[in-house]
Amino acid sequence: MSKALDFNNIPSHVAIIMDGNGRWAKAHGEERLFGHSNGVDSVREALKCARELGIKYLTLYAFSTENWARPESEIQGLMQLLVASIHSELEGLCENGVRLKTIGDVSRLPKDCIDSLQEAVEKTEANKDITLILALNYSSRDEIIRACNRLAAKVKSGALNPGEIKQKDVEEALDTVNIPDPELLIRTSGEFRVSNFLLWQLAYAEMHFTKVFWPEFRREHFIEAISDFQSRERRFGKTSEQIS
Ligand code: IPE
Ligand code: IPE
Ligand code: MG
Repeated sequence: MSKALDFNNIPSHVAIIMDGNGRWAKAHGEERLFGHSNGVDSVREALKCARELGIKYLTLYAFSTENWARPESEIQGLMQLLVASIHSELEGLCENGVRLKTIGDVSRLPKDCIDSLQEAVEKTEANKDITLILALNYSSRDEIIRACNRLAAKVKSGALNPGEIKQKDVEEALDTVNIPDPELLIRTSGEFRVSNFLLWQLAYAEMHFTKVFWPEFRREHFIEAISDFQSRERRFGKTSEQIS
């Protein structure tokens, strides 16, 4: 049992690699898509919990650029699930003050996904309680390459001097512009890797790994991750004495 949370030390941005849907489905004698659709309940629960704890940004890795290599039927099922989930959840998002954003090159998704996402982003734009960021057709290297191209175009137009590119310029060229870096990364399913997720933004994030498969991730697991985060001493390069 984790100890009581310190509400003065809640991370403002939590990112999650939602992994293990396929293995969870297999363990239940079901197809992989059964795992993905059950994972939607975990998303709803994580969002609710994050909002109640006062977390301001929740980023979820939903589909990577590498995931296009999966069987066509699984990709199609995931895209249909995305559209169906947006439709079924949109009203709840609005009622609960959730603003929806995306990162990744969503222009490559099927048209019905793009349209549903656009509608949800527009309808939730003014919501202020929490920002839910879905990483779709996302990989960090792809994001960084697209950022490099944006910076190169700025240099070419004369808006930016070569040799004077600062951290702020890079941050403004990334998909996560105006979003603070995640302070906590959670990965489910017992894998210990980053899988091309937010490589720039996770520079100083605390990492929490759990064996729990994503479809069984519930409030208690989220609380456990926050409790783990609160047990860490975040030194940012300094000595322990300097920060205590
Ligand atoms: C995560 O679960 C969901 C996506 C990557 C879309 P997986 O589908 O990767 O599940 P496992 O890792 O095969 O169990
Ligand atoms: C990472 O999970 C991507 C998402 C959760 C969307 P994967 O299951 O695709 O990652 P790897 O292939 O095991 O690294
Ligand atoms: Mg996986």
